[in-house]
Amino acid sequence: MQPLGRSILTNNLSVNMSLKDSINIQRLPRHIAIIMDGNGRWAQDKGEDRLFGHLHGVESVRNIVEGCAELKIDYLTLYAFSTENWDRPAEEVSGLMELLVDTIRNEVPTLNKNNIRLHVIGDISMLPAAARKELQEALEETQLNTGMNLVMALSYSSRWEIIKAVKQIALAVQSGQLAPETISQSVFQQYLSTSEFPDPELMIRTSGEYRISNFLLYQLAYAELHFTTTLWPDFRKENLYEAIIDFQNRERRFGKTAAQLENLPETQNASD
Ligand code: IPE
Ligand code: IPE
Ligand code: MG
Repeated sequence: MQPLGRSILTNNLSVNMSLKDSINIQRLPRHIAIIMDGNGRWAQDKGEDRLFGHLHGVESVRNIVEGCAELKIDYLTLYAFSTENWDRPAEEVSGLMELLVDTIRNEVPTLNKNNIRLHVIGDISMLPAAARKELQEALEETQLNTGMNLVMALSYSSRWEIIKAVKQIALAVQSGQLAPETISQSVFQQYLSTSEFPDPELMIRTSGEYRISNFLLYQLAYAELHFTTTLWPDFRKENLYEAIIDFQNRERRFGKTAAQLENLPETQNASD
């Protein structure tokens, strides 16, 4: 008889391997977006401070960035800090800011090694000057990378982004640069902070909350949504594979009938 520990390990390994093997690499989502939620509850369950949860959440970020890069996902967007999160207790906000910027800074060599380009979306003007500088440096140091695009949503909220876009469009119309009748979905998209990226095809939220919390409201129009009760600090590659397999089992109809789809290529953006 095998010792118990070894057989458990062997079983886990075979489960993980078969999960990854079940992914159809021809039908991967091009862009995955994740609401990384549940750090506070994870820490509190262990009788620890909320910041302890954020600290462990960084391990999950590393693991998932690596997992997505291995699968050759083109775009990964991580919701790290919302505009509304500024209203949390000052101690948590400053601890979290420090952790986020330190992590981004420390990860630059790994990002470069793996050819990953960093992008940031959000109201960066809200960040302390030192943090803005660190962030800017990290963006510049990875800007020539041509592999995966890692988009950090930092001090981000979708309503903030949409209002900013509307103001810029109004100014362009006022100054005569833009004719109102030419405003289409593709023109509007150019004013969003995600203008360089395709819309996410898969959105994952951890921690058992079933809401969007002001994340990419416009861009998620036709994303498949995957919710899991796993808390973010426990989320690992196997959970990512599960989400991708779930995505691959969905029928994406984009408003059409199932019969129509038989003759149509998959498309992610609604036409104008
Ligand atoms: C997600 O975890 C991280 C941020 C929102 C910054 P939370 O801090 O929201 O953790 P919970 O949801 O309170 O458990
Ligand atoms: C959403 O999580 C924001 C991030 C994960 C960065 P929250 O914890 O702030 O969302 P709510 O308050 O539960 O909706
Ligand atoms: Mg939360």
